[in-house]
Amino acid sequence: MKIGVFDSGIGGLSVVKSLLEHKLFEEIIYFGDTARVPYGIKDKNTIIRYAIEAVEFFKNFELDLIIVACNTVSAYALNEMRESASCPVYGVVEAGALAASNALKDTNKNILIIGTNATINSQAYEHKLRSLGFKNLQAKATGLFVPLVEEEIYEGEILEATLKHYFHMLKDPDAVILGCTHFPLLHNALQNYFSKETLLIHSGDAIVEYLEKEFDFTHNYEKTALKFFASENPEALKKVASKWLKN
Ligand code: DGL
Repeated sequence: MKIGVFDSGIGGLSVVKSLLEHKLFEEIIYFGDTARVPYGIKDKNTIIRYAIEAVEFFKNFELDLIIVACNTVSAYALNEMRESASCPVYGVVEAGALAASNALKDTNKNILIIGTNATINSQAYEHKLRSLGFKNLQAKATGLFVPLVEEEIYEGEILEATLKHYFHMLKDPDAVILGCTHFPLLHNALQNYFSKETLLIHSGDAIVEYLEKEFDFTHNYEKTALKFFASENPEALKKVASKWLKN
């Protein structure tokens, strides 16, 4: 299978990492809209317009499917992308909610959803989780984590203060949905802040779990061909890819 992975910028590389670990695909075409990132502070119509442009870009390749790694786009533009694409389009929101539900099972458990302003305002995760029976939901926009990750701040005082700033008022969650491409890079800091028992749901692992149910993968690709495209400064994106995707 040859697939496209779309993100607003570099963050979707965290999803590519999961895809590579599971050796599911022969070729991945990555497109990051680095010229217009961040999407997480934009409005619905803009996000949809940009997402449809990404679908147009992917039409240059004969793809078997498109994965929307960006939570913000998955929350707002999946239907519109599906309407204009000539292959199936999968997003990370439904996959993340299902992964949380499968792992927790007990619908009384408390789930915290974190993401960009746009993702949290959309309430897309809450809608899906409520439809699965979960009622104890908390949601918090934690946009400052995005620039922190881009500055490679994965620990230390600034991050600790930001964690406290966002979470000190919240009830201790049983699970946290990392509803933004950047947040898996803060896995250790988040796990330490909450507790060892708190389940952290990553978009990348969630979409793999989802696709493995959807498709009958019979082949393990030892090597996946990777092609990176960006709307601005593709060299910078490739540099980040070589850091994030190394084992
Ligand atoms: N990729 C975005 C997401 O997962 C985060 C960065 C942005 O705001 O564009 O929501």
